[in-house]
Amino acid sequence: MTRRLMPAMAALAAVLLWVAGLAIPSADAAGADGSCLLQRQPGAATPRQDKHDLRGESESLKGCLAFIHIPKAMGGSIELSRLHAWGVPFNRTDGCQWQLRKHGTESVRKQRQEPGALWGSCDAGIPCTHVDLNEKYGNTCSQPSLFSGKRCSAWHFPPSFDSRLASYYTETCDSFCVVRHPLERFISQYRHIRQVGKYEGYKSYGKHPCDAKHLERFANETLKELNLEQDCHLVPQVYYIFQEGNPEDRRLCRHVLNMTDAAEQFPKLMQRYGLEHVTLGGHDHLYHDRCEKIVPTAKTIELVKQFYRQDYAAFGFV
Ligand SMILES: *[C@@H]1O[C@H](CO)[C@@H](O)[C@H](O)[C@H]1NC(C)=O
Ligand SMILES: *[C@@H]1O[C@H](CO)[C@@H](O)[C@H](O)[C@H]1NC(C)=O
Ligand SMILES: *[C@@H]1O[C@H](CO)[C@@H](O)[C@H](O)[C@H]1NC(C)=O
Repeated sequence: MTRRLMPAMAALAAVLLWVAGLAIPSADAAGADGSCLLQRQPGAATPRQDKHDLRGESESLKGCLAFIHIPKAMGGSIELSRLHAWGVPFNRTDGCQWQLRKHGTESVRKQRQEPGALWGSCDAGIPCTHVDLNEKYGNTCSQPSLFSGKRCSAWHFPPSFDSRLASYYTETCDSFCVVRHPLERFISQYRHIRQVGKYEGYKSYGKHPCDAKHLERFANETLKELNLEQDCHLVPQVYYIFQEGNPEDRRLCRHVLNMTDAAEQFPKLMQRYGLEHVTLGGHDHLYHDRCEKIVPTAKTIELVKQFYRQDYAAFGFV
């Protein structure tokens, strides 16, 4: 992690760039540009050169839109929205790939290989350098040079860890993603791990009460170093958006939405790509949440702020 630390100045610049993006009126007729869409072009040949071209307006939109699924930031709902647009009923009880399998017609299943046609776990075209093909659960990726012995689902794998994956999200289609406040995202992962109980080494959390003390224990245990634990659910969001996870480097995710106002920004983005028929399917949760009112301890907040400091800086979270 340390070697990837960006200088404080870079962090500051990133905040300023983000704020500059926000200053652009969202109602401007020319483009239903969401005020939260950062539009720096993804394909600049040399890092930094596109600093003055934040919104990427000089580069036209590509003909299709891919989705970079940042874990615990609406990814599941967004994938299902895309599937729903193909006529499959919106149903949040299962992940996209299972819904596609159960309820998709043959022609919808065929769409899996078409760039941008389906997103996240429903997208069978997500490539990576070190792939493990798995029919049943979907493909997984690894990056032995950085993280030995661990794998994540292909649709959760951060593109900054794999150049093939980075090309997939930048070359054929444009990409978009949703960022979430790091503390909310972390607490959401704590709830997730308690409820699904499937992650080796973390099963005991489901047996303990959902409270601030166990959340702190979870933070103590997990927020130490960058790794691929828990299907990449804890990886800082900058690794999904910037090459090397560095906000000064090339953008991999062209359009970044803020989860807080995604309901307003999502339709505007869809419209720009002729995808008006893709609509968000509501806010029902995949897992019943019996742990709403948790108040994190000061220690938990400190650990989250430290571990996710690049996310706070790059996306203007406080
Ligand atoms: C959603 O899917 C589950 C499992 O396939 C099913 O039991 C449930 O009835 C479905 N709900 C709706 C509203 O279709
Ligand atoms: C977390 O770690 C700190 C030491 O860094 C310790 O004081 C605290 O008791 C730990 N919290 C839990 C809940 O284990
Ligand atoms: C995104 O929303 C959060 C509230 O969750 C807010 O603190 C943050 O400033 C927003 N960021 C941007 C860039 O709009």
